[in-house]
Amino acid sequence: MLSETLLAVLENLNGNIALAFSHQAEDVVALALLKRHVKRPFGVFTLDTGKNFEETKPFHMQVESFFDIRIEQYFPNADEVAALEADLGEWGMRGGLDERKRCCQIRKVNPLRRALSGKTAWLTGLRAEQSITREHIAEIEYDGAFGLLKFNPLAHWTARQVFAYIDENRLPLHPLYRQGFKSIGCKPCTRAVRDDEDARAGRWWWEAPEHKECGLHIKEAR
Ligand code: ADX
Ligand code: SF4
Repeated sequence: MLSETLLAVLENLNGNIALAFSHQAEDVVALALLKRHVKRPFGVFTLDTGKNFEETKPFHMQVESFFDIRIEQYFPNADEVAALEADLGEWGMRGGLDERKRCCQIRKVNPLRRALSGKTAWLTGLRAEQSITREHIAEIEYDGAFGLLKFNPLAHWTARQVFAYIDENRLPLHPLYRQGFKSIGCKPCTRAVRDDEDARAGRWWWEAPEHKECGLHIKEAR
């Protein structure tokens, strides 16, 4: 369920709002909750980094058709990508934290800035349980990095609740979850994990847990 507080804030907020949709289970649940409970219009967008898994595009179309919506796609700037690839090659983002953050900046953060332009608030599928970098997130926050409100309707959900909601409501699920993935990002930086590993273990697995953020979810102004 969406909390009554968040529902009231959403219904009374002026301006454009949009859900950031990364094709993960949390985003599908957030989308279903918004469609079911929120009367006001809202957008849905995705950041297509150009490095997605092959399975993501067909799933994208499945979600559009299931919910009868259009998910707006934002792409990285072609000149920035060309310069990045000339410097790093195909796998250079694995070379070190600076290289990886440069790739995330160009492929995710810069397009996010465009996606959020003109918005009053954005919504995400973030959960506090996901990692030490997220343990203090709240359902309603101010995003000082991008200068707008940020809503995390699943902030206090567990993974078990997310997948139970998907099952109970027969919602679409990205096929990689059935192949041992617990979190799904870009192909070069995401892998399947063992049952006893945590949800973020398959993301940037060569980095320490405290570094595992791509820059979308930094609250401070910059
Ligand atoms: S990330 O920062 O490590 O990539 P994660 O994959 O856990 O984030 O996703 C957390 C939330 O950020 C998602 O639920 C979604 O709201 C948003 N998000 C992450 N990646 C994207 C993307 N490519 N497009 C749109 N939203 C995204
Ligand atoms: Fe680049 Fe990997 Fe970040 Fe995707 S997750 S933008 S491939 S560094």
